[in-house]
Amino acid sequence: MIVSEEHPGLRMASRPAVGVPGPGGNRLAALRRMRADPLTRFLDLRRAYGPVVRLTAWPVSAYLVSDPEAIADALVGGHRAYAKGAARRGRDGRLTVVQPLSLLLGQGLLTSSGQTHRTNRRLLQPLFHRRRIAGYGATFATIADSTARRWRDGQRLDIHAEMSEMTLEIVARTLFDVPLDDALIEVVRTALRENMPAAGRRVLPGFAAAERLPLPAARRRRASRDALDRMVYGLIARRRAAGATGDDLLSLLLSTQDAETGARLDDAQVRDEALTLLLAGHETTANALSWTFHLLGANPQAERALQAELDTVLGGRPPTIDDLPRLEYTQAVLQEAMRLYPPVWAMGRHLIEDREVGGHRLPAGSTLLFSQWVVHRDERWWPDPDRFDPSRWLHPGAATTGTSTDTDTDTSTSTSTGATPQRPRFAYFPFGGGPRQCIGNTFALAEGALALAAIARHWSLRPVPGFDVVPHPLVTLRPRDGLPMTAHRRRPS
Ligand code: HEM
Repeated sequence: MIVSEEHPGLRMASRPAVGVPGPGGNRLAALRRMRADPLTRFLDLRRAYGPVVRLTAWPVSAYLVSDPEAIADALVGGHRAYAKGAARRGRDGRLTVVQPLSLLLGQGLLTSSGQTHRTNRRLLQPLFHRRRIAGYGATFATIADSTARRWRDGQRLDIHAEMSEMTLEIVARTLFDVPLDDALIEVVRTALRENMPAAGRRVLPGFAAAERLPLPAARRRRASRDALDRMVYGLIARRRAAGATGDDLLSLLLSTQDAETGARLDDAQVRDEALTLLLAGHETTANALSWTFHLLGANPQAERALQAELDTVLGGRPPTIDDLPRLEYTQAVLQEAMRLYPPVWAMGRHLIEDREVGGHRLPAGSTLLFSQWVVHRDERWWPDPDRFDPSRWLHPGAATTGTSTDTDTDTSTSTSTGATPQRPRFAYFPFGGGPRQCIGNTFALAEGALALAAIARHWSLRPVPGFDVVPHPLVTLRPRDGLPMTAHRRRPS
């Protein structure tokens, strides 16, 4: 049986589908291989078994789905047959649906569903309108510029830590209208470090009970979440006291009223939304930029082409949002980096009714995983898929920005899909798609391109010889041991 938060009345049998190919043999050994290196394992499974692979049959039936048409169905056309999150089997044999990130984010936009999600989405959408994002442009470039000004020629830096701090400051300034101080950085960093590795384990039976035990790791997680709560509730209290009259996120959340009932959000709801945007809004972009610099460091030719564009378009001045249409190669570099190292490397849905998926009838209750890491390396759409080649994005038809038409609800954000007549829409989906598409995608693309331009016009970041950069797939894809690089100044600023 499955009990879905979005469909509380529904009770469905979860049984494995018949005839879906997948690995047999020792389940424990297979699980170990998966846990040791999910990125390689997913690629191997896709190669060996095709676009729909049975991953597990028990305690839940889970499938890796790598067919763009099936992904389009799940995220867009047939999204009502699916719900977000993964199914977990309890001791009584019943399946419940869990959101791995709700441990940290409660019921904010990323983790809520049904009517709560639709209301939240309508509420937050104004913060991400194109006009607003154009207004944030100066902050994106200024903060990136001041990050790069702190560096010294020849200095060794952890670029992942630098990018995380920079994107956190950008979100704090643009959405919260608060300055970033060391205490805030530390609280956020600790909460992410302690809770992200545990988020995926929420789907395992017994996790909730174990989390309440006085074990050191569970205690550290609770303490870090408490500190995060104190910080956010403090921000809320100060903004309430000041009258919440601004047009930033906190003011918007505090002043919003239900059109029919006149009800306002309580502090816990404001906390969930605020934390969601603070965390979802900086960690992913930090990863995108980190991997971009990693790839540029390994591909001097692409770096030279980028710098040539920056010199021509900017002529020695800092970038502005109006430069973006002419910074085509800069945007292509970012797109190509997110193809090879998608900050969100896999997404989960579960079926709430039986459905045809990639030619197989999958039963209600099945968990489906769609992996950007796998699909973005499909050589049918991406010839020589492991090669970092930003020029893939420059040919006509591969426009880097445009208005999204891929949803049957009004999410009216923009996206960059890389779709061409030869390449289906969901051959590339770093921001997901449909009604749950990343609300921050236009924000992230503008922020990413302007930050890249502001940094790369001054600096060339070189890899540290002998340091093995290992992608670490938690909820997001980050460099496991940081990203040490050496900064070389291009010209006096
Ligand atoms: C390169 C940067 C980013 C990437 C790759 C990214 C990726 C994604 C993906 C794949 C999803 C959909 C998850 C799913 O459907 O299961 C998502 C949702 C979301 N993202 Fe992003 N994101 C990025 C930046 C941002 C930024 C800058 C913000 C906010 C400032 C943000 C806020 C959100 C929120 C609130 C959701 C949930 C939307 C909903 O369910 O309605 N993201 N993101």
